[in-house]
Amino acid sequence: MKITKGVNRLGTETAFKVLAEAKKLEKEGKEIIHLGLGQPDFKTPSHIVDATIKALKDGHHGYVLPNGIIECREAVSRKIKSLYNASIDPERIIIMPGGKPTMYYAITLFGEPGAEIIYPDPGFPIYKSMIDYTGAKAVPLNLTENRDCSINPEKILSLINNNTRLLIINNPNNPTGSFTEKNKIDQLAAGLKKFPNVAILSDEIYSRQIFDGKEIPTFFNYPDLYDRLIVLDGWSKAYCMTGWRLGWGVWPEQLIEHVVKFCINSHSCVNAAIQYGGIAALDGPEDELNNMLEKFSLRRKLIVDGLNSLKGIQCSLPGGAFYAFPNIKGTGMSGEEFAKKCLHEIGVAIVSGTSFGNFATDYVRFSFAASRENISKALEKIDKMLR
Ligand SMILES: Cc1ncc(COP(=O)(O)O)c(C=O)c1O
Repeated sequence: MKITKGVNRLGTETAFKVLAEAKKLEKEGKEIIHLGLGQPDFKTPSHIVDATIKALKDGHHGYVLPNGIIECREAVSRKIKSLYNASIDPERIIIMPGGKPTMYYAITLFGEPGAEIIYPDPGFPIYKSMIDYTGAKAVPLNLTENRDCSINPEKILSLINNNTRLLIINNPNNPTGSFTEKNKIDQLAAGLKKFPNVAILSDEIYSRQIFDGKEIPTFFNYPDLYDRLIVLDGWSKAYCMTGWRLGWGVWPEQLIEHVVKFCINSHSCVNAAIQYGGIAALDGPEDELNNMLEKFSLRRKLIVDGLNSLKGIQCSLPGGAFYAFPNIKGTGMSGEEFAKKCLHEIGVAIVSGTSFGNFATDYVRFSFAASRENISKALEKIDKMLR
């Protein structure tokens, strides 16, 4: 058998590998505290579940439009209007099985040998994996140069050249939890006007997990970029629906036909009943979303204070998402050694910084989408491990 070279360049998401190892240890009888995978530990709000069950009972079991049912696209458009006061034609919205496919298709549309794509490092590992797959040059934006790992607009603009096709921004960022305020994104958007051939993929999957009441720094604020802007968002993180596989992308008009073809060539359409659940989520009450954010905020303080009290560990306060990304250089271990030791010696599952890029060798990622008891227990165990 001879498979393509591109496939051999594909990377992976180490968080799933850590989960598999942790599950294996659990099966052997070890107690594991899971701070690895990035998913809210709350249940999907019941009005979303009910709407989905109703849709199935009402007979929504068949194929639907590849870009999503119009009711769901209209609900996304309404939400964008209410959150950002931006008017987006539902025809520019494509419903996907999760947030990831928007990333997959965007990178596939722009990546090929000779092209360059700028991506955050540390960043969600699938960006680089997909860029490598296409044969494009992956140009990392080193976020660790800023202590809080926020985005430096001037640095980004300096990385752009004639080969740059796509710029990937993820704010708030996974894995660092860093948050870049709107004034900096305004600066970036203004600078991008000088580079009309560069498309932008703004991954806003953590847009509803921003702390301290700060404004969401969405790219929907810049209508003059709309003809080359792709916004990735979805239900996974905001509505505790990671396993439902439901997301949306907003695309420039001229790319719609290509993306719809991708959908038809791969998944055909997204599960219809689940799209009705998605509508209920977007149009329904947000109390549970707000409660969750409050809980995340308390846990954020618990984990960051706890980590900063440990010998050799320094952690900035994350402004969004649900990740703490401490520098652990002072422990004398690399991030990889530290994460391995945590899992195998004390049963705490976390992810090494190198899983997210080359600039994060001294870091590890803790997901604080876990109970306060488990976070405290994990901190105690790490304290003991380091003594
Ligand atoms: C930055 C980022 N983008 C996209 C995704 C993918 O989201 P989904 O699970 O909806 O595919 C994730 C998931 O962890 C993420 O962290």
